[in-house]
Amino acid sequence: MGNWIINAGLAVEDSAELTLSAIFYENGFISKIVLMGTVTQAELDGHEVLDAEGKLVTAGLIDMHVHFREPGFEYKETIATGTHSAARGGFTTVAAMPNTRPVIDNVDTLKTVYSKAEAEGIVRVLSYACITKGELGREHTDFAALKEAGAIGFTDDGVGVQSAAMMREAMKQAAALGLPIIAHCEDDTLIHGAPVTEGVFAEKHGLKGIPNESEAIHVARDSMLAETTGVHYHVCHVSAEQSARQIRLAKQHGAKVTAEVCPHHLLLSDEDIPGLDANWKMNPPLRSPKDVQAMIDAVEDGTIDIFVTDHAPHSEEEKAKGMMAAPFGIVGLETAFPLLYTKFVETGKWSLKFVLDRMTSKPAELFNLPTGVLAPGRPADIAIIDLNKEKEVDPSEFASKGRNTPFTGWKLKGWPVATIVGGKLVWSESRV
Ligand code: DOR
Ligand code: ZN
Ligand code: ZN
Repeated sequence: MGNWIINAGLAVEDSAELTLSAIFYENGFISKIVLMGTVTQAELDGHEVLDAEGKLVTAGLIDMHVHFREPGFEYKETIATGTHSAARGGFTTVAAMPNTRPVIDNVDTLKTVYSKAEAEGIVRVLSYACITKGELGREHTDFAALKEAGAIGFTDDGVGVQSAAMMREAMKQAAALGLPIIAHCEDDTLIHGAPVTEGVFAEKHGLKGIPNESEAIHVARDSMLAETTGVHYHVCHVSAEQSARQIRLAKQHGAKVTAEVCPHHLLLSDEDIPGLDANWKMNPPLRSPKDVQAMIDAVEDGTIDIFVTDHAPHSEEEKAKGMMAAPFGIVGLETAFPLLYTKFVETGKWSLKFVLDRMTSKPAELFNLPTGVLAPGRPADIAIIDLNKEKEVDPSEFASKGRNTPFTGWKLKGWPVATIVGGKLVWSESRV
């Protein structure tokens, strides 16, 4: 079917919420958008029409930070289940992290991921490649060859690059190729195997804590290196107040530093952790209420640019090992938009457009993607979201293999009901 029309819905333009009459698309691209107009029956005839009456119609959401676990950890997630999870969350593009097994530090593994994504993925999958071989921090990967094979940037996500010299050289090489460095900021000398943040929860339970500085020291170090090398340096999952301060400073000095934050670091603190339940364990950890407020402030003043999920599925057996032994990470794709919509838009803190921009046009702009905007000539990547639909988070309904979320039972509004990628309906509540 080359010819689709979405008929009626709500679109958001500038600060106004407009009644959308129709989006026409052909051959995977948007051909015409009718706002506030009338569409005649004759125009609709002969086309397949998707009725979006009363729903939000937005550019498909973009998540620049997910873990899909393939190859090597298919029991946690596959590209098939991960992209299904993305589609259910309204995401049409995701960027996958390279901490698979083997890690994506060579062209062959990268090519395998892309061909799997092509064959089995139902949304667009982009892939990062490692900064260092094996993510061991000792030897650089072949940046030029990995770029040639489709890597969209370099990261050792899962671990921090411990050596400033390694990071500096990586930045030089990435800058020369015009690709970004995406950094998981964590200084290992300050971690000591701690499972949660330093603070009230750790003290109460007699646990070691991960201090804020373990993150902020890398942010400060790398911001300076970014200024010197001129690279686009993107900070992963910012969680600490001190990190936000360093990013703000770097931006003021004109460094090309950008940053992301996850919904959980905007909504939860260590004081919310109910007990020794590993569904509340992620890296970076939930910080103090003061840090949560600092994340919100940093989003509001532009220090933090975009929202990502850091979707990190693990098996139930792994998460059942308890707070100390379980792996870090929570799933996020299927709850991200409803969480941000319910907690920030419904409450009147942020406009709908403010949230959408940070999940569509801004990530597209930062990473030079053709998607993220609804306009003629752009790919027909569209999410249809029912802003009035209210439902409790029920992990047993997730398309992801991961059930590891701290948001179980939260009553949320703003659930996606259909997802279109390149003009193809890849998921809808009623039919696929
Ligand atoms: O919580 C996390 N999970 N943080 C990371 O940095 C890695 C990720 C994973 O791969 O599970
Ligand atoms: Zn990370
Ligand atoms: Zn991650």
